[in-house]
Amino acid sequence: MDDLNELKARALQQLDSIWDNAKLDEWRIEYIGRKGAVNALFEQVRALPKEARGAFGKNANELKTVLENAFHAREGAIKQRELSEALEAEPLDVTLPGRRPQRGRIHPANQTLREMYKIFGEMGFQVYRTRQVETDVMNFQMLNIPPYHPARDNWNTFYIAETDNRVLLRTHTSPGQIRVMRAMHPNPIRAVISGMCYRYEQMSARYEIQFNQVEGLAVGRNITFGDLKGTLTEFARRMFGERPVRFFADHFPFTEPSAQMDVKCIICEGAGCGLCKFTGWLEILGGGMVHPVVLRNGGYDPDEWSGFAFGMGPERITMLKHGITDVRYFWGNDLRFLEQF
Ligand code: DAH
Repeated sequence: MDDLNELKARALQQLDSIWDNAKLDEWRIEYIGRKGAVNALFEQVRALPKEARGAFGKNANELKTVLENAFHAREGAIKQRELSEALEAEPLDVTLPGRRPQRGRIHPANQTLREMYKIFGEMGFQVYRTRQVETDVMNFQMLNIPPYHPARDNWNTFYIAETDNRVLLRTHTSPGQIRVMRAMHPNPIRAVISGMCYRYEQMSARYEIQFNQVEGLAVGRNITFGDLKGTLTEFARRMFGERPVRFFADHFPFTEPSAQMDVKCIICEGAGCGLCKFTGWLEILGGGMVHPVVLRNGGYDPDEWSGFAFGMGPERITMLKHGITDVRYFWGNDLRFLEQF
């Protein structure tokens, strides 16, 4: 019995000075582990005289419980102390300003697109999206460009299926004109068709294999070339501010007559510089009066209806507005570029 009491006193006293888990584990092994001191006591029971065994065993069991409880209590105390030490070492300063979450931005091409939608929207044009995967018929033939037509060289094409009606990635938004006309017939139309186009180009600072286009289409009973000029002049005024524009003859198979519109160079104001290649003017878009064949393909009788159409590249216009010299920045996903907008 004295051994027992002595063991208890020693164990508890030792435990009292333990403040780390490694030492605590050593203590556990020494006293209450499988080969520890308490279990050794039970081994001794058999050596005792019969009368003493019961009381000794009971006390040994009690001792075991006491030490086990003391062990768990200590374990909790150590955890508590570690926590308060950690809190003291790294105090929480609730007055520190918070960390700003990373905020995304609207892509520069989309910023320009939205600006264009707003301008044309205020003029009564409704925005449409039509498919990016088109057929040869829609992308070319319905636009008055038959298979043998030399103008096809203007649109280097990604063909994605060789069937009778070849499937391709649209090279321009113009096939959307046919789709919108067929959907709208027999109503008058004021539509903007926008979205991604694709061309099989050697990529360079000036050429990308993908880019957006914004296409305009107006169809009505009395639409004239004057309406086209007025609409585009007003568009340029809102997009680029007060600056001269000029129109001159161009050629597209789907318009007749066809025109190109330029604005006075935004860098040199016409004096001549690198941006305008010393012409004083920047090419902004192509357009014209919708060709009678195209009107008919859209379901509109060209003897009763007329229309104008135009097409432009929002990336190109963004480049001109911001002096961006390489079109590959747009889809390069370099944050150093994107974060400037
Ligand atoms: N589709 C032409 C292109 O990609 C742009 C264009 C020119 C569209 C004249 C038109 C238009 O609607 O009338 O180069």
